[in-house]
Amino acid sequence: MNRSFRTLPALAFPILLFFSLAPLSPAQAGSLIDKGRKIAQEGNDLPGSTACMECHRLHGGGMPSIGSPRIAGQPRQYIEHEILGVKAGTRYAPIMAGIVNNLSEKDIQAVAAWYASVRTPKLRDVSPYDPDLVKLGKRIALKGQWKKNVPACVLCHGPQGRGIPPHFPYIKGQNKGYILRQLISFAFLKRSDDPQGLMRGIARRLSPTERKAVAEYFASLTPPPADGQPDRPSSGKDPR
Ligand code: HEC
Ligand code: HEC
Repeated sequence: MNRSFRTLPALAFPILLFFSLAPLSPAQAGSLIDKGRKIAQEGNDLPGSTACMECHRLHGGGMPSIGSPRIAGQPRQYIEHEILGVKAGTRYAPIMAGIVNNLSEKDIQAVAAWYASVRTPKLRDVSPYDPDLVKLGKRIALKGQWKKNVPACVLCHGPQGRGIPPHFPYIKGQNKGYILRQLISFAFLKRSDDPQGLMRGIARRLSPTERKAVAEYFASLTPPPADGQPDRPSSGKDPR
């Protein structure tokens, strides 16, 4: 075999790496989003593949009744990080674990680009929010519980919990069952994908009532539609 031909695969890797790091042109980003939409809608054609929309809906509104989170408009890097964590076993997500195993790196980038780009109004939560818990939750969210070494949630999750891309997810407008379960997961189960264990420590130091209160507070707000754009009022309509 010709020598230069044999070195081709060795050369291809750095070249591919270069292209994957290079910023995407609008056309490339568009085709990535289209590919992601297809995976969200139909899966990726491999055996065992399940369409994300079965649980997250095509437009990312989630399913409050089964505690499946909204993912519409979460930062692209955060979505990728969560899927990679589920694959690696650091992100506790028992229902999803089998589903993302067959996604390639490109599939993950594509489906993350799709869900980061979609905008969906808030879906109706499973039950009305308790005003007393919302009040307590708001206080913790905005001021923290410094006696217990719990910082204000908004310090990391942005004003009202609207997220700070690329690493801090939004939590405002997320469904309450999901938020509460994440806090329990960080505190006691196996969600250990947070940098330096920051969320694990915070979730552990909150009491059960306080965890419930912050979940009710953040869930009672409207979700952020897009980076830096003003919030849209929630219509409560099912967007699918
Ligand atoms: C069978 C239902 C189901 C399917 C199908 C599914 N998910 Fe999930 N997903 C869940 C549940 C439930 C959670 C929350 C896990 C937990 O409790 O921590 C989740 C969590 C996530 C999260 C983390 C969200 C966050 O805010 O941290 C992302 C991202 C995600 N899913 C993306 C996907 C993508 C992309 C697909 C398709 C390839 C997919 N999911 C398919 C049920 C599903
Ligand atoms: C020091 C920074 C920091 C503070 C303060 C903080 N968080 Fe977080 N939080 C994070 C990071 C980082 C993540 C994402 C972890 C990951 O990458 O999976 C996160 C994730 C979460 C999630 C999971 C989101 C999802 O979509 O799955 C919830 C819920 C949450 N935080 C709630 C809270 C609440 C409630 C408070 C206040 C009591 C709070 N956080 C304070 C850094 C922080």
